[in-house]
Amino acid sequence: MTRPEHVPADLVVDFDVLGDLGIPQAHAEASRWRREKGPVVWTDRNGGYWIVVGAEEIRRGLVDVSLFDSASRGVKMVTIEPREALVPLELDGEEHTTYRRILNPFFAPRRMRLLEDDVRKVARQLLAELAPTGSCEVVADFARPLASSMFLSMVDWPLEDRVKLENWVKRQVNGVAGESEEANRRIQAEALEAVTEYCRGQITSRRERPREDMTSTLMNATVDGAPIPDERLVGLLIVLAAGGLDTTASVTSQAVELFALHPDMQAYVREDGSRIPAVVEEMLRVGAPVGPLRAALRDTELGGVEIKAGDRVHFLGQAGSRDPAEFPDPDRVDLQREPNRHMAFGLGPHRCIGAALARVVLAVAFDEFHAVIPPYRLVGSESRLGAVWGMSSVVVEWDVDEVVLP
Ligand code: HEM
Repeated sequence: MTRPEHVPADLVVDFDVLGDLGIPQAHAEASRWRREKGPVVWTDRNGGYWIVVGAEEIRRGLVDVSLFDSASRGVKMVTIEPREALVPLELDGEEHTTYRRILNPFFAPRRMRLLEDDVRKVARQLLAELAPTGSCEVVADFARPLASSMFLSMVDWPLEDRVKLENWVKRQVNGVAGESEEANRRIQAEALEAVTEYCRGQITSRRERPREDMTSTLMNATVDGAPIPDERLVGLLIVLAAGGLDTTASVTSQAVELFALHPDMQAYVREDGSRIPAVVEEMLRVGAPVGPLRAALRDTELGGVEIKAGDRVHFLGQAGSRDPAEFPDPDRVDLQREPNRHMAFGLGPHRCIGAALARVVLAVAFDEFHAVIPPYRLVGSESRLGAVWGMSSVVVEWDVDEVVLP
């Protein structure tokens, strides 16, 4: 790509979010940019865009909707064009509010607390099978099945489609590390097509045989007195699937990796369940998997940098949550950190609608894992970036004779 003339050469960094960099390296890079270059930098990779790493600048950019929009972020790093908008992620203003209103009742915190028993049941089933084996690969054996089962039961899609769906969503959101930008565009487009077809299938089967589940309720919702158009419905289901399948699993697996390296943290979590809510917040801060993407609506200035209308911007909340200006000793994991105004769920009108659900799943995951699995050690792990940062694998082991199943 040709770099726009208004981008100062000294703000350019070499950062390929779809490349083969791991999470620790990405954090080290981002904190170096913050120190050496300031709160806003530019990468030429994946079409060229600004990366905002300063907490104050991220807040301003996400909250002041007159500066940046979500609709034209279709030109974002997951550059699949043309395609329908992801709903409500890529809608703005009134239309965005309309779809948030339709979704809100499904995610009310009270409803999420009622789900807690179901999450606990699934976690216990998974762990009862894993505990006697003495080791597991946390992502595939625990974190993904737990997050996905909750999501699939919410929308009432078949549990046996779980692995297929997870693989599509993974490729759609992150591409494949190490592939060229061109190959990844193709990989992401094919995966998106597969997910789209799957969602269409769920809609069709309910048209043929109406049911009473979340998918059907969404199908029966109206906008301005008319049914939700099919392309909006599909865009909505795709966003829910991406949110439900990948993000919570990422934080769970990053946490288990960290705790495996720090027996004192494991003991701390195990000792007292009332500590878990603060632990969840700190893991969301240091393990935040997503940073919102936007495009500039007009020429503006952010963190002393001139941004032009149409420029793409990645608000790297992962880095903002480690900005030393707001978080003392930001790279230190402090399970009692207070205050902890992390940005894991974003800010402004698009703030994550699944935050309460994610918090329930994470709290139950940490609680049950440590209730059932005795002190564990890390055997090996691998992380990856993408639109959702996460672990490719985390293998841990423990002594089987210490297992006491409840
Ligand atoms: C740890 C888990 C999660 C994290 C860190 C996370 C993070 C985020 C972030 C940063 C955004 C804002 C994106 C933007 O501003 O462009 C967002 C939006 C969203 N998330 Fe989550 N999410 C999580 C779990 C979930 C879950 C479990 C669901 C639902 C099943 C979900 C559904 C959504 C939806 C529908 C949006 C779009 C909201 C809108 O555009 O108004 N998320 N999420």
